[in-house]
Amino acid sequence: MKILALESSCDETAAAIVENGRTVLSSVVASQVEEHKLYGGVVPEIASRRHCEAVVPVTKKALADAGLQLSDVDAVAVTYAPGLIGALLVGVNFAKGLAMAADKPLIPVHHLRSHVAANYITSPELKPPFLCLVVSGGHTHIVHVKDYTEIRVLGQTRDDAAGEAFDKAARAMGMPYPGGIELDKTAEGGDEHAFSLPHPRVDGAPYDFSFSGLKTAVINLIHNAEQRGEELPTKDLAASYRCAVVDCLERNFLKAAEATGSTKLVIAGGVSANRLLRRRLEAACAERGWQFFRPALSLCGDNAAMVGAQAYYEFLAGHTAENDLNARPEMPM
Ligand code: KG4
Ligand code: ZN
Repeated sequence: MKILALESSCDETAAAIVENGRTVLSSVVASQVEEHKLYGGVVPEIASRRHCEAVVPVTKKALADAGLQLSDVDAVAVTYAPGLIGALLVGVNFAKGLAMAADKPLIPVHHLRSHVAANYITSPELKPPFLCLVVSGGHTHIVHVKDYTEIRVLGQTRDDAAGEAFDKAARAMGMPYPGGIELDKTAEGGDEHAFSLPHPRVDGAPYDFSFSGLKTAVINLIHNAEQRGEELPTKDLAASYRCAVVDCLERNFLKAAEATGSTKLVIAGGVSANRLLRRRLEAACAERGWQFFRPALSLCGDNAAMVGAQAYYEFLAGHTAENDLNARPEMPM
């Protein structure tokens, strides 16, 4: 089954053709990040307009790269939630038009489920059940993936998402948006113990996260040093901060694995590209004799191949949409 998948939930316009949920025939991503960089973050109004301009050429290229016509695909899939509403509406409406014109089924896909599914492409042997840490710019969840479309949320962030916490601290360190990647690079080789930072916990909810206190602590350190006319060693500060965020993610994820008896651990979302997070979990799983899966770096950020992967399993579960499908800014996983 060949699925044409579309993604437009934030600042990437993407289209892909995926066969049977695992084989990527083509994948095209048009990023708007350079434009949003000028404003220090994603400007929703600009994002919607750029999706509107890019969605047709990106889809045409995905079909051409796979050597297919619209009539050759078996279904059209689209990210319908969660995300920026104006951005999602562009993809949803375009997908509805395509499905109607080609008389193909329409498959709505949850953005975070698709991040998890990036792993099905990278690791064809991976099958549920498993425990997954989903860490993106807008969400931080620990989920039990019982089956491809049966997902239970065990914990989530009470305030900032991990990616947001990285981006905001990076901005205070003078790095351009989205600073998470730059902060990760800068931290390599820095002294993780140079600064002592809080490792917040949520009382009574061992799998939930709270990053706002940690983020504020590092921002205050930077501002106080500026007022004293001092310059902090950025490399050591980035290393200490990255270590604190990863400590919290690893602590709760391993705790959830022990409590649920899960021995197959998976990471997903933009922050799953983080070098320290990958190294730490790889080592922790190896030590315990557990399996560890992570997406290829090219599939960590937003793309449509992951949407096509999850869409296949949604279709098998009978989850198709009618022509009144709408986009939703929020939606439980
Ligand atoms: O999943 P994603 O592409 O978009 C959302 O659905 O939000 O995640 C983007 C987030 C950004 O906050 C970005 O800074 C972060 O992922 N990110 C990283 C790294 N690469 C991307 N954070 C830390 N380390 C990285 N290497
Ligand atoms: Zn995402």
